[in-house]
Amino acid sequence: MTAETFRTIWLKPDDPSIVQIIDQRLLPHEYSVHDLRTWQDADTAIAEMYVRGAPLIGATAAWGLYLAALATPTVAGVSSAAEALLRSRPTAVNLRWAIERILTLAAANGDKGLVDAIGTDAQAICDEDIEISRGIGRNGVRLLEEISRSKNGGVVNVLTHCNAGSLATINYGTATAPIYFAQQQGIDVHVWVDETRPRNQGSQLTAWELAESGISHTLIVDNAGGHLMQHGDVDIVITGTDRTTRTGDVANKIGTYLKALAASDNGIPFYVALPSTTIDWRCRDGVQEIPIEERDAEEVSHILGMHNGQLTRVQTAMSGTPIGNPAFDVTPARLVSGLITERGVCKASEDGLLGLFPEMVDT
Ligand code: MRU
Repeated sequence: MTAETFRTIWLKPDDPSIVQIIDQRLLPHEYSVHDLRTWQDADTAIAEMYVRGAPLIGATAAWGLYLAALATPTVAGVSSAAEALLRSRPTAVNLRWAIERILTLAAANGDKGLVDAIGTDAQAICDEDIEISRGIGRNGVRLLEEISRSKNGGVVNVLTHCNAGSLATINYGTATAPIYFAQQQGIDVHVWVDETRPRNQGSQLTAWELAESGISHTLIVDNAGGHLMQHGDVDIVITGTDRTTRTGDVANKIGTYLKALAASDNGIPFYVALPSTTIDWRCRDGVQEIPIEERDAEEVSHILGMHNGQLTRVQTAMSGTPIGNPAFDVTPARLVSGLITERGVCKASEDGLLGLFPEMVDT
């Protein structure tokens, strides 16, 4: 289990004008804490993926607005930083959710006491996220218990894609939360970790997290999952999501859709773990409506790794090769066995989601 005190973002204890993050670009080779001093620093940290993962992107934007208020303690100042932050990454809806929450608070609060009000709410967003991850863990572990029982206590093999772990949230993660709870309950669990090209969130982040937590895991290339499923080596797939529509379509890291197809062909349950902050209640059709981020071609033409003790970028593709780099894809609800949320597990459908979140019916 991730240490209870582990955090991915926090206010510097002796200097509340600085927000601190882990520079995830350097993991697993280097654990480096990075200071955010301005909202522009927060914007860069999100856009250039010092921080990533839907819930952490939202929390970083909230703290970015706190930094904006420190520099210009007016609702107008915060609103103009919000406009820029909203453009930092397009797919994870937690960004919009967190910014809208802080802007609503700022409008109600007015200029007086704005810094304290926003700081308190940014911290609340982080504290709530931890509780949400715990809820996902409590609800999702039941699926792993059931598989363990059906295998008479044999090893439960989970396949996951990208990093939907502690590093993508404030602590505990979404897809990993049920795995951490399973470990606590003594369930024998093993995780197949997709490498997740091009940014390698699986090999660099998920494998690091699982190793730190003492959870048995094996790193595989992205193309290995289907083969493992055909040979009975995968009991369940659990991924995270960056945006889930009210109808249960799921946007997640590129390649998730192919895993869902392979799982469906092999009759393997495919679950998606998400905080309710990742549901876009205004969106019905994921494939048509969710904006998919197109990232830099260099993420595909080059690869980053350690060479002679130095983080080194190496070119793998021929110079000038035309490159496409869509960072996310959408898995239609029909391929999703269920959604694991902080309120329970439901069908990937509007009825399923509204059954857990009835207050959103008119949204
Ligand atoms: O590009 P990233 O690393 O921000 O993408 C992250 C993912 O796709 C995660 O799986 C998703 O945000 C869920 S995180 C709890």
